Amino acid sequence: MFSTAFLDIPPLASASGTVRLPGSKSISNRVLLLAALASGTTTIHDLLDSDDTRVMLDALRALGCGIDAAGSTLRITGMGGQLKPGGPLLPLFLGNAGTAMRPLTAALSLLGGEFELSGVPRMHERPIGDLVDALTQLGCQIDYLGNPGYPPLRIRPVDHGALALDAPIRVRGDVSSQFLTALLLALPLAARKDIVIEVVGELISKPYIEITLNLLARFGISVRRDGWERFTIPAGSSYSSPGDIHVEADASSASYFIALGAIATGARGQKGIRIEGVGADSIQGDIRFIDAARQMGAEVDSGPNWLQVRLGVWPLKAIDLDANHIPDAAMTLAVMALYADGPSTLRNIASWRVKETDRIDAMANELRKLGATVESGPDFIRVHPLAQADWRPATIRTYDDHRVAMCFSLAAFNPAQVPVRILEPHCVAKTFPDYFETLFSVAEAHEIPVICIDGPTASGKGTLAAEVARLLGYHYLDSGSLYRVTGLAMRRAGLSADPQHEAQIAALASALPLHFTEGKVLLAGEDVSDDIRTEAAGMDASRVSTLPAVRAALLALQQRFRQLPGLVADGRDMGTVIFPDAALKVFLTASAAQRAERRHKQLISKGISTTLDSLRSDLEARDARDSSRSVAPLKPAQDARHLDNSQLSIEQSIDQVLNWWQEVQPFKHA
Ligand code: DC
Repeated sequence: MFSTAFLDIPPLASASGTVRLPGSKSISNRVLLLAALASGTTTIHDLLDSDDTRVMLDALRALGCGIDAAGSTLRITGMGGQLKPGGPLLPLFLGNAGTAMRPLTAALSLLGGEFELSGVPRMHERPIGDLVDALTQLGCQIDYLGNPGYPPLRIRPVDHGALALDAPIRVRGDVSSQFLTALLLALPLAARKDIVIEVVGELISKPYIEITLNLLARFGISVRRDGWERFTIPAGSSYSSPGDIHVEADASSASYFIALGAIATGARGQKGIRIEGVGADSIQGDIRFIDAARQMGAEVDSGPNWLQVRLGVWPLKAIDLDANHIPDAAMTLAVMALYADGPSTLRNIASWRVKETDRIDAMANELRKLGATVESGPDFIRVHPLAQADWRPATIRTYDDHRVAMCFSLAAFNPAQVPVRILEPHCVAKTFPDYFETLFSVAEAHEIPVICIDGPTASGKGTLAAEVARLLGYHYLDSGSLYRVTGLAMRRAGLSADPQHEAQIAALASALPLHFTEGKVLLAGEDVSDDIRTEAAGMDASRVSTLPAVRAALLALQQRFRQLPGLVADGRDMGTVIFPDAALKVFLTASAAQRAERRHKQLISKGISTTLDSLRSDLEARDARDSSRSVAPLKPAQDARHLDNSQLSIEQSIDQVLNWWQEVQPFKHA
């Protein structure tokens, strides 16, 4: 996951390949609650692991459910519809998860017990009054702790004998379908007799109600439905665990990859994008996004649990759509509209205004930053396509809304080849923590950005490069470690750094079974991180690095580190030989006296005794050797920027490099 302040997506050219998507959020949180209310144990496969499901799991754990997670399966031992009696008031924090707040409010007000439900500030702006009204009508005890109509809430124990079950329970259906879902999931707790729910107003987002009914049926509860106005929970309903249940991949998450297939897979006949884990048999309403994508020109094939998407027509065809049935996935259409042959209109989407953020305003604001003309109203948005000359490099605000972040990544395929900066990219963790990694696994860039940091030994380039990489969310290449590993492999093969062994050492170097994970260097699976850091290994590295065939053998290996979204590479010839086209090259220096002092401190802290004078003369001798040697001498690239860090702290050096990087980017400060 990207935990950086921003993520720069370079201009992307095309996409192809296969993606597996995380589990559906809507199914995951419903199944978790149903399994918790049922008796017995339910094994859930492929559950979504994200912020919203973690919030639900924490709440269920606090309520006393047994929860065992192992890999992608999770076992829940339910409460059998009953809470352990006499517990103290239980505070539950539900983040910004509407799929936890609404159903838990209904279930907890019928379970008995005292609770306080709260969330992040935005959660306290998302309406819940219509659900609370329906529950109080029935006899539940719920108070507002802040603004009436909104969380946080206080729930007090209910008197089941006094519940008004004879009259139909009336609930509004035109603000959020989650109110009805919450009642449907929870009311079986009170089904001494038939319970009738009547929907007031036109029900929105009907497909989400279908998911609810489908999953209730899997847990043994058959709700009778008359149109979309009346639902009856039969007397005697009780939750029974299905034993095992599989969660489909998230159809809303699939929308980004369906869009990718439609805009980025090039001409007919190409492979396109294959999506595994969700397909034509899906019970999720957002699977209907494929109809809208087809209408815009995508070619979509499907099987029971897979989709295959290719570019069909180009530019895409503009669309005018009532998107009420696919409110979440329709945001993706708003970005696809930039690539269409005329203005596209999405109607009947008032619910966008009460989601993670006001999504109509958010989409309109950010699409305008890209250069687009956008009109919007209380319940619609109209997006005009962008001509090649009108695209602008934009810094996209994401409003802590995962879908805004994911949608706008699709703007990186623009024909003007401008990059897109996504602020706070970690907000995708709400439903799809590895979204960007998944996108990058199938996307091809026009050019992947590289920052090179060269400089003499002990200048601090390793520390600087690793930190700059971390702050930008880029990959990091410590090229010295490749020479060190080659030296180690040479020793282990019984060779020495003689010119007569050059070809053999080069052969070893070109086939190093090397992996970098979690800061460790693995050679054929063995952790050699410490072995390559010894003085002797440094000497071997220095010797093998003077063999031209070895340098040539390591060239391609080093270039393979250049992967999306970008690379920071450190080492003596990064800017001159390996990545001569790098957009920023830094040549880091510090006086020999300063470097000797830093190394002295390092060695002392390791308990190695030495003198400053001898270190300094060693360094000076090494500098002279390094810059005069015939193979790969240490010299700055002609276009390198020099940074003398003798008087700078590490933070100041990092700031300088980041400022230079910002200067070579086209983004204006947002
Ligand atoms: O940076 P380091 O100490 O880990 O480098 C080990 C040796 O490899 C050192 O002698 C310099 C050499 N080297 C090189 O020749 N070219 C590089 N790109 C990186 C390191």
